[in-house]
Amino acid sequence: MSLRIKLYNSLRINYDSNYGYYAGSLNLWNQILWNFIFPGRLFHRIVGNTIFRKKYNKFYYNKNDTIDFKNIFTTFNNDGAVILNNYFSEQEIENLKKIYSEEIKELKKIEEKKSESITLPLKKDLIKFWLDENLIGLLKNMSSSNILARNYPLMTYHTNFDDQLSSKDKFLKNYRSKFADDWHVDHANLFNLHVLLEDINENDMCMEYIPGSHKKLNQTYLYSDEEIRKLKTKIKKCYGKKGTIYIHYGNTIHRMKTVHKTTRLQLHFEFTSKTNILINSNLIAKCLSSNFDLNNLNKFETEICAGLFPPIAKKGYSLINNKYFPSNPNIT
Ligand SMILES: [Fe+2]
Repeated sequence: MSLRIKLYNSLRINYDSNYGYYAGSLNLWNQILWNFIFPGRLFHRIVGNTIFRKKYNKFYYNKNDTIDFKNIFTTFNNDGAVILNNYFSEQEIENLKKIYSEEIKELKKIEEKKSESITLPLKKDLIKFWLDENLIGLLKNMSSSNILARNYPLMTYHTNFDDQLSSKDKFLKNYRSKFADDWHVDHANLFNLHVLLEDINENDMCMEYIPGSHKKLNQTYLYSDEEIRKLKTKIKKCYGKKGTIYIHYGNTIHRMKTVHKTTRLQLHFEFTSKTNILINSNLIAKCLSSNFDLNNLNKFETEICAGLFPPIAKKGYSLINNKYFPSNPNIT
């Protein structure tokens, strides 16, 4: 057991709801003390401007749009997550599924495995799903104007899960899941955006979240079911027809609720406010494998992707202490 867990266990308040890896506590003083000892997450949230909600002089959205984004922002701001039913039409989803039919076939071959993800080769039709100006505007309103794509676009498929076990059962069976089916938070400045490609009903496998939990000084440890119950907050489920999207902020407590014999196929997009961009040369190659020309992205799209596809510097880059800097263009 790590020093941090040992230290945490010595700080915990309620032994009925904190056990094993389920060391996350919602007790205010515990959270304050923990953030004081390990201020990294808090520091990142301050850098990314994701800790203080505020009224914006500039509200980012397309004024011609018929959707009430101010209302959507209010829900997102209050809950730390938001579900937009049928944001994309069934027709748009079916067209996209046709374009990526090979990838879907590949994903559904997993048989015994529970989860699989594929980095999607970029195609023109995917861009409108990935880099939707209004949705990214929503993320900017929740953080800073400096929202960037954090990861390359993914399609994910979940299947073969058993019904959800309680955290106490997992602890007693000494079972630690490799999946996101325990209550947890994500990276400090992460925004995850999912697009359902198949219908999901209320009682199917889906993501669940605790509205308002993003306002707390959460730690990165798992939260037990008992700890969550103490909040007395109604858990919300992310389900809907294909084309429905759900977005959550990294500090919102959430989990994947598993249900036997149900599946989930969705697009998975990640964005971040300034920090933790997952640049990866192999994935750049995969992303551009269908000969997509990055010059076809417009100015807005290019800016959002700048962290994943670094721009060409006039005089190249200098590598100093393993850090890249654009070389001075005035020195030849
Ligand atoms: Fe997560």
